[in-house]
Amino acid sequence: MKIGIIGVGYIGKTLALKLGSAGHNVSVANTRSPEKMDPDVLATGAKAVTAQQAIEDNEVIILSIPLNRIPDIAPLFASVPENVTVIDTSNYYPARDLKINRIEGGLVESLWVTEQLGRPIAKAWNAIGSQSLKKNGKSSGDSDRIAIPFAADRGTDRNITKKLIEETGFDAYDTGLLADSWRQQPGAPIYCTDLTAAQIASLIDTAERARLPARRDLAVAAIMERMSSAEANPDADFGLRLSRALYI
Ligand SMILES: NC(=O)c1ccc[n+]([C@@H]2O[C@H](COP(=O)([O-])OP(=O)(O)OC[C@H]3O[C@@H](n4cnc5c(N)ncnc54)[C@H](OP(=O)(O)O)[C@@H]3O)[C@@H](O)[C@H]2O)c1
Repeated sequence: MKIGIIGVGYIGKTLALKLGSAGHNVSVANTRSPEKMDPDVLATGAKAVTAQQAIEDNEVIILSIPLNRIPDIAPLFASVPENVTVIDTSNYYPARDLKINRIEGGLVESLWVTEQLGRPIAKAWNAIGSQSLKKNGKSSGDSDRIAIPFAADRGTDRNITKKLIEETGFDAYDTGLLADSWRQQPGAPIYCTDLTAAQIASLIDTAERARLPARRDLAVAAIMERMSSAEANPDADFGLRLSRALYI
C-alpha cells in the first residue's frame, strides 16, 4: 500500500521501518523540508516528502505527532478523499500538550482528533512503547505475541488497521468504536503493558475511566523524577514495569 507518515519521532520512525520492511511504499514528513530529514529515518527506506505530499495520493495516512500539534496539520485534510484511512497514534499528556479543555471535560481523545480533522480516523499504535514496537514483534501464532489495541468507526478503517498492525509483528486487538477508545488511553490497564490478546480480553473491562488521568499523571511524575523531562522516552523495561504497576 502507499502510506504517508506525518511525524517521524520515536513511533513514526519505527512504523516507517516496520511498514517498509513489510513491503509498503512509505513516505515520511516532519516539520522540516525533505532535504533536512534525519538520515536515520531515510535508512528505513522511506522517502522524505513535505506534509502536504504525505497526505496526497496515499491509501493510508498515519499521524504520529504530539496531540497538541494536530490542529496545525488539520487544514491539510480538507483535500483528503473520504476513502483514505487515517490512523492516529497520539495520546494526551497535559504535561506535554498543555491542557485541552474539551478533553479535560471528558471528550475521548480520538474523538477530539476526529473533530480537529473533520473526518473519521482509526486509533492504533498509541498503546505500545516505541522500543517494544521496534523489538518485540513475533510471528503470527506465537503464544507470547503481544497484541496492539485499535479502534475505528468504519469497517474499512478497521480492516486496514488490523492488517497493518499484524504486519508490524503483533496481534491486532479490536477495542471497538472510537467512543470506547478511552479503554486504550494512558492510565488504562491495556496501555503500554505489553499484553497478549487473551490478557487484554481479561483486563479491558477492568478499566475505570475516572481513574485514568490520575494514573497517567503518576506515571509522568515518576518518569520526570528519573529523567527530568515530561517528553523523555523512558527506558523500555522501566516504562513497562511502571505501566504495569500503576495501570493494571
Ligand atoms: N514515544 C512513544 O513510545 C509513543 C508510544 C505510543 C504513542 N506515542 C504517541 O505518538 C505521538 C508521537 O510520539 P513520539 O514519541 O514519536 O513523538 P516525537 O519523538 O516527539 O516526534 C514527534 C514528531 O512529530 C513531528 N511533528 C510535530 N509537529 C508537527 C507538525 N505540525 N507537522 C509535521 N510534523 C510534526 C516532529 O517533527 P520535528 O522533528 O520536525 O519537530 C517529530 O517528527 C505522540 O502523540 C505520542 O503520545 C508515543
